[in-house]
Amino acid sequence: MSTDPLVVFTPSGKRGRFPVGTPVLTAARQLGVDLDSVCGGRGICSKCQVTPSYGEFSKHGVTVREGALSEWNKVEARYDEKRGLKPGRRLGCQATVQGDVVIDVPPESQVHRQVVRKAATARTIVMDPATRLYFIEVDEPDMHEPTGDLERVARALREQWEIEAVTADLSLMAKLQPTLRKGKWQVTVALYKGHKDTTPRIVEIWPGLHESGLFGLAIDLGSTTIAAHLTNLDTGEVIASSGLMNPQIRFGEDLMSRVSYAMMNPGGDAEMTRAVRDAINDLTRVIADEGGIDPALIVETVFVCNPVMHHLLLGLDPVELGQAPFALATSESLTLPAREMGLDAMNPRAQVYILPCIAGHVGADCAAVALSEEPGKSEDLVLVVDVGTNAEILLGNTTRVLACSSPTGPAFEGAQISSGQRAAPGAIERIEIDPVTKEPRFRVIGAEKWSDEEGFAEEIATTGITGICGSGIIEAVAEMRMAGLLDESGLIGSAEQTGTARCIPEGRTHSYLVHDATADGGPKITVTQGDIRAIQLAKSALYAGARLLMDEMKVDKVDRVVLAGAFGAHISTRHAMVLGMIPDAPLDKVTSAGNAAGTGARIALCNIGARAEIERVVRQITKVETAIEPKFQEHFVAANAIPHKTDPFPELAKVVTLPHVSFNTGGGDEDRGGRRRRRRA
Ligand code: FES
Repeated sequence: MSTDPLVVFTPSGKRGRFPVGTPVLTAARQLGVDLDSVCGGRGICSKCQVTPSYGEFSKHGVTVREGALSEWNKVEARYDEKRGLKPGRRLGCQATVQGDVVIDVPPESQVHRQVVRKAATARTIVMDPATRLYFIEVDEPDMHEPTGDLERVARALREQWEIEAVTADLSLMAKLQPTLRKGKWQVTVALYKGHKDTTPRIVEIWPGLHESGLFGLAIDLGSTTIAAHLTNLDTGEVIASSGLMNPQIRFGEDLMSRVSYAMMNPGGDAEMTRAVRDAINDLTRVIADEGGIDPALIVETVFVCNPVMHHLLLGLDPVELGQAPFALATSESLTLPAREMGLDAMNPRAQVYILPCIAGHVGADCAAVALSEEPGKSEDLVLVVDVGTNAEILLGNTTRVLACSSPTGPAFEGAQISSGQRAAPGAIERIEIDPVTKEPRFRVIGAEKWSDEEGFAEEIATTGITGICGSGIIEAVAEMRMAGLLDESGLIGSAEQTGTARCIPEGRTHSYLVHDATADGGPKITVTQGDIRAIQLAKSALYAGARLLMDEMKVDKVDRVVLAGAFGAHISTRHAMVLGMIPDAPLDKVTSAGNAAGTGARIALCNIGARAEIERVVRQITKVETAIEPKFQEHFVAANAIPHKTDPFPELAKVVTLPHVSFNTGGGDEDRGGRRRRRRA
């Protein structure tokens, strides 16, 4: 048996014997331990930090004595002096093995480190990005052995990093010569290797050791909003998040009106493509500024979007998506140079990855939700609902996954609501109505206190009370139903019928007064009959989509429900169920997942394996087309009642008793706008 010292790495548990004098980094590499290095062991990148442990380790069967690693050398001392090493830390490329030792690799030194999401469902992201940094020392040119600079860079990568071959485009070659000379033949290159590529490509080069990191954007391109997360491709950390309204709204609020715009106006599609690309360029600059980085450090971008946005982003005419059979130009995932898409605010050689679409109405955003929430790995039957202008709905378990999208319209995002607004300081986000007095109390974004608590006025002094956001309107409608201000059909009662002067007449219908600041020149915030109808349309579309999937699955109930969406995390699950947005389920089995599509984009950005995975998963998802399914209309009409005309809600009944009220005085049916089939949003 070898008498060489035993080296045990934690947390991996990998172990092996190595001759005295072996650098820890070398031992780690030979054992396949996940220990990072950008400089290749030259003692300048500090990525290889490890923590040796001393003492008795019965678990590993070793005793580690003082002197198990070499003394600090000059390189470590210099690094510690300049940058500081945490107590107990060593540079793995400098410290050598002298005796049996247990060495811990801290998370920040692992290449494939795990990033724990903050959201409720704590899915971790394992870092494995497509673009990585490599520091190399390149041979100087020699007249007697003529080779090009690029060939010598390739040779250095082969000899120092075992990377067999690389390519570079013309724009990179133009930078190569001055950068090599500026760096005195020491440079850092960023290599991009997609999950389908065999040869990596040099996307950037810096003189010396590049220490400012590499970044990527995960973009959720929605019909109403564009949300971006600027992510460090080394650590997975989101360093800035920013969003803006989709400027295409001026061409049409919902997707179908944008498709119509493209149909009716020659060049309209190109106009919309320009608008969205300009917005993404602006957003890139803003988010880089917020993150305090040079936008040229953004080398990758992942997009998730619905099919119409997908086509408009790519400059493809969306007209085919407006009519059956809803043919996509391509449903495959796409990897493209950002420049080719007119995205020129980021690195000129940045790569874009767009997740695959599932079908003509079920887009890459739904694929991203599937990647994030993994319904196909769930033992119990889970319904995942991504609430947005278009709802993405997935139903499945380990046996089968179904998907559809449903045209909810922008009401859940506060649009088309009389006092509606985006979720911003001053917006009412929570509301409660006393079932006896019918008086409301509410909370606004930016303040901690409820409106009836002392100190509320001070807290809202700067923001004021400006309107109701999406989660607020859902709660308002549900609370009105629970307080007996609203009947099952969605009619608001009069002051006489409800016994509160807050129900005020408005034409032939009534509104509920939430807040009146008109005496001080402020707004009057009401929930009108029109608002109720808009919410009924939206929730009926959502419920009908879910029901259609349940029909297809041949089930009448689901085991659990996940509410996702940009504001999914803010929706009160109880109120969502009172409203009948989602099928009946035990309330403790209804959870919020936050922006699942955005999370899916982040996962695909940070881990190239996830790109291959979602491409495989998407092929196994059964698509259900709501637009041509006659049952959808039937379900839609039945779902118009609050919570539902025919479906029982036994789980809801265990926690909430809804009053039996009816405000229909037998008049006309003209206010029953909710019965109209909604256009696809
Ligand atoms: Fe770069 Fe050790 S590998 S400092």
